[in-house]
Amino acid sequence: MAPFTAVVLLLAALRGCDGNLRFASYYGDDMVLQKAPQRAVLWGYAPAGATVTVFLSGPVKQKRACTSATQGIWRVLLDPVDAGGPYNVTASTPSSTAVLTDVLFGDIWLCGGQSNMYFKTSQVFNASEELALSAKYPHVRTFMAALNSSETELIDLIQVELPWSVPSARILSEFSAVCWLFGRYMFEKLKYPIGLVESCWGGTSVEAWSSPRALKQCGLQQTENSTKEKSSVLWNAMIHPFRTMTIYGAIWYQGEANADYNKNKYNCSFPAMIDDWRMAFHSGSGGQTADDFPFGFVQLCTNNKGATDDGFPDIRWHQTADVGFVPNYPMKKTFMAVTLDLPDEASPYGTIHPRDKQDVAYRLTLGARAVAYGEPDLLFRGPFPQLIWASETFVEINYDQLVSVRPSKDVFEVCCSVVTAPGGSSSRWVPAAVVAWSASAVRLNASSCQPSEVAALRYAWKDWPCGVKACPVYTANGVLPAPPFIVQKYEAGKRNIWKTKVVNWNGTSERRTPRWRSADLLQAQSQTKDGDEESSMTLISSRVTNIV
Ligand SMILES: *[C@@H]1O[C@H](CO)[C@@H](O)[C@H](O)[C@H]1NC(C)=O
Ligand SMILES: *[C@@H]1O[C@H](CO)[C@@H](O)[C@H](O)[C@H]1NC(C)=O
Ligand SMILES: *[C@@H]1O[C@H](CO)[C@@H](O)[C@H](O)[C@H]1NC(C)=O
Ligand SMILES: *[C@@H]1O[C@H](CO)[C@@H](O)[C@H](O)[C@H]1NC(C)=O
Ligand SMILES: *[C@@H]1O[C@H](CO)[C@@H](O)[C@H](O)[C@H]1NC(C)=O
Ligand SMILES: *[C@@H]1O[C@H](CO)[C@@H](O)[C@H](O)[C@H]1NC(C)=O
Ligand SMILES: *[C@@H]1O[C@H](CO)[C@@H](O)[C@H](O)[C@H]1NC(C)=O
Repeated sequence: MAPFTAVVLLLAALRGCDGNLRFASYYGDDMVLQKAPQRAVLWGYAPAGATVTVFLSGPVKQKRACTSATQGIWRVLLDPVDAGGPYNVTASTPSSTAVLTDVLFGDIWLCGGQSNMYFKTSQVFNASEELALSAKYPHVRTFMAALNSSETELIDLIQVELPWSVPSARILSEFSAVCWLFGRYMFEKLKYPIGLVESCWGGTSVEAWSSPRALKQCGLQQTENSTKEKSSVLWNAMIHPFRTMTIYGAIWYQGEANADYNKNKYNCSFPAMIDDWRMAFHSGSGGQTADDFPFGFVQLCTNNKGATDDGFPDIRWHQTADVGFVPNYPMKKTFMAVTLDLPDEASPYGTIHPRDKQDVAYRLTLGARAVAYGEPDLLFRGPFPQLIWASETFVEINYDQLVSVRPSKDVFEVCCSVVTAPGGSSSRWVPAAVVAWSASAVRLNASSCQPSEVAALRYAWKDWPCGVKACPVYTANGVLPAPPFIVQKYEAGKRNIWKTKVVNWNGTSERRTPRWRSADLLQAQSQTKDGDEESSMTLISSRVTNIV
């Protein structure tokens, strides 16, 4: 069915309320329903009291499900159906029948956020090649909710923008690039159907997508006047309706709008929204959607080259609940694509909308494979500091994995202890050049702090810290950039403790005191390198990293 016909019919159906049997707005021909072991929920409208029978016809026989409509709504839970299809789903009452044809069973991913999620496949680099590939992926199906808001929680969408479709260049040119590419790459891996549900809106804040319940946890009840910042209005109209459908997981690209709006609460509001969505989808689907469903997100890319404000760096940090990486204790079963190394200075859509969405989606799929699908031994996170050593002249960062490093004069910065409130907004940060590295450690020149000592360290703490794929630290295979971090020696009220919360990626938490020490050995080593100016970028002997 042509999408526009479908929209018109749907509107007619919604307006009509004629008591006829029909499915809710987001069920349609060519759709994907959640596969086993979960059970898909189907629901719709029927005359009050009518008995509704639902059955599947297709490759595997299923028993009929029966229910009666209460207050004009019917709802059934299908038995688990393995990946595959196509099926026809028939709902009938004694007087009428509604059929969904060409239905596949697979995993459903919900794609939310603001303009970088909305960013269309026709706008990316190599768009024509990407669109031409659509015909090769008939088992990745797309659906898009219309941009609507509501003051109250709705049970169904106000309007459908793009009904469920088998991908074509025409459909995909209007569909989210990050969502599509994520689905396509996941299909390559999983080899079974993927259903993509796009529900996002440019320029919107996290508050708009959060329920009052979630906002309350962060002291954020008050609402703004503009539709797109108004608390909960998009949650109400564009997310809440989907909670009755069974989904596998969600991906999210948002945060730009919060760089100057409730920024300091984002470390609370974002994790609270994730947990609240999980709770709502779990209960809304009668327990079928996992109460810890995997949630992937894109850490902010770049916007203003040369900007020195902390908007984007703070949001990037807050996106991880101030831990620096995910998954972590407050953000279980999450995964993150770090993208601060994918700036696009020449984007015709504005620098805030970089056109490389392929790398964004690919990095998300690595996280999804590891966190959402449990693929073992997959490298899906960039390097993060594990131990930090300080001498009078050097700072050495030992990473949690092997690294590939390129020289940098100013992407690492130190804050010296002569400054009160190190790491605070008034502190003075000075560049610390990379002077050497080993297979898993980076050494910085901190002599600019003399005669005082290094009190804090940060990495890539700028809106636009490096060029395209040219940040200083990557995974050993060069694919995944290290996420930005900030670490302080003195926490408020405490002395001489370099303390960071270290959270294992399996969700268990532990506290460690990173060992920043004046390491005699490091100094001894640096002396042996004296007079070797030319090769100051030498590899540190691997001996160094073995001392703990
Ligand atoms: C589904 O319905 C369509 C249209 O009525 C029909 O052509 C098709 O064979 C049916 N498929 C299955 C699997 O029953
Ligand atoms: C819903 O969104 C569509 C498309 O954005 C718009 O045309 C329509 O007027 C909206 N409906 C309401 C009730 O806001
Ligand atoms: C919201 O609207 C009210 C009046 O309708 C006005 O007094 C207030 O300043 C507005 N707030 C913002 C943030 O625009
Ligand atoms: C969130 O960030 C703000 C500002 O940076 C900070 O004051 C606050 O303690 C943080 N809250 C949590 C829960 O980490
Ligand atoms: C675009 O295509 C070229 C040529 O195949 C390739 O080298 C480049 O990586 C592609 N760009 C993106 C962002 O995928
Ligand atoms: C470290 O920086 C200082 C000045 O900031 C400079 O004099 C010194 O040569 C640098 N050392 C190395 C090893 O680069
Ligand atoms: C979680 O990971 C840590 C560190 O890798 C390990 O020590 C711990 O046993 C793990 N815990 C569970 C419950 O798997």
